[in-house]
Amino acid sequence: MGVIINVVSGKGGAGKTLLTAVLAEALGRAGKRVLVADLDVFVRGLTALLFFRLDDRITMSDGPTVSDFLRNKSRSPDRNGGGIDIDEDAKAAIVRCRSFDVLPCVASVNEIFNFRDVMPDNIEEARNVLSRMLERIPGEYDYIFFDSRAGYDEFIAAAHQIGDCTLCVEESDRISRLTSDNLIAQLSRDADTPIVRVRNKVREQKENIQEKNNNINNNIIDAGAIPFDTDVMENFGGDAFWAEIDRSVYREALAKSWNMIADALSWPDKLKTGKRVNPIGLRYLERSLSMLSTIGRILFVYGILLALLGLFLTAGDNIINSLTASAGGGNTPLWGIAAGLCGLGLMAGAVMSSGKK
Ligand SMILES: Nc1ncnc2c1ncn2[C@@H]1O[C@H](COP(=O)(O)OP(=O)(O)OP(=O)(O)O)[C@@H](O)[C@H]1O
Ligand SMILES: [Mg+2]
Repeated sequence: MGVIINVVSGKGGAGKTLLTAVLAEALGRAGKRVLVADLDVFVRGLTALLFFRLDDRITMSDGPTVSDFLRNKSRSPDRNGGGIDIDEDAKAAIVRCRSFDVLPCVASVNEIFNFRDVMPDNIEEARNVLSRMLERIPGEYDYIFFDSRAGYDEFIAAAHQIGDCTLCVEESDRISRLTSDNLIAQLSRDADTPIVRVRNKVREQKENIQEKNNNINNNIIDAGAIPFDTDVMENFGGDAFWAEIDRSVYREALAKSWNMIADALSWPDKLKTGKRVNPIGLRYLERSLSMLSTIGRILFVYGILLALLGLFLTAGDNIINSLTASAGGGNTPLWGIAAGLCGLGLMAGAVMSSGKK
């Protein structure tokens, strides 16, 4: 069956879906067999992110989607219809995306259903849905990721019980950390599946998050911090999404976090890191400019250098002129002023280009 990793967060928008998709692609490219299942029946963010160009139905192998498995449970006589039948020998619907497989949540991203037909009534029922779903998955996988919805419910509790690891994504703000603390405390009571905590969209320089987390449980694994990456945010779901991921600060940091998890849980598969070329040389500087896009950072840094060079040349020229004034010097240092103005122009361009998309 492979290692099952349940991706959760205390509050919405922390970055679960992005992390799931990028890790799946990284592991898939490293030759691992990876399946991602979109368990977020209402937002269905993963299905939308991966198949956003297909606004009608997704072309996939025939068979039940995650929402079909959920609706199948409500076929019992005490419910008012709504549920659907699944053939005895039907296999789960699988679609290939790049280097990994996907079990989508729905066949069409604008599908609407009755809330009562979808949500399990209790953890037991949710576990049955998940077990049935896993039994019907054709093929073998090294890793299966569940992209769960934010917060806590029966389905998340069941996925935590069934899985091999629960990966909790949080942002740095107090509310996000607090909701994470609460979720982790709850999940720790439900099962002793290892829980990993990763901090996402980090803007400050400090990478060690240990002291910031409430010490709920010593078994919580720290997977470090992933910086805020403007390019990734701006291209989320866009045409250049995967191309942007490949050269992103985000992808590199996520690979490091994965390796920390693999180390802690003795998983054999590590991701390669250190391949990314930093266009402005200093990692510290790049992180400090995370509000700008990559192009913006390059323009900004080289703009500053050019402006400083202009200043230096102009000042230098003035000093030489004043020393040689008696000897008839006094030319205006035009090239210094021009370099300074170009530098300022580049910096302005950097700020404007980053706010454009
Ligand atoms: N490190 C990051 N830097 C910049 N933007 C990020 C980062 N991680 C995620 N995002 C952005 O945050 C937004 C929410 O991400 P995502 O949909 O993955 O979150 P989620 O936790 O799955 O949300 P939901 O709770 O709705 O399912 C997206 O626009 C995504 O691009
Ligand atoms: Mg999501």
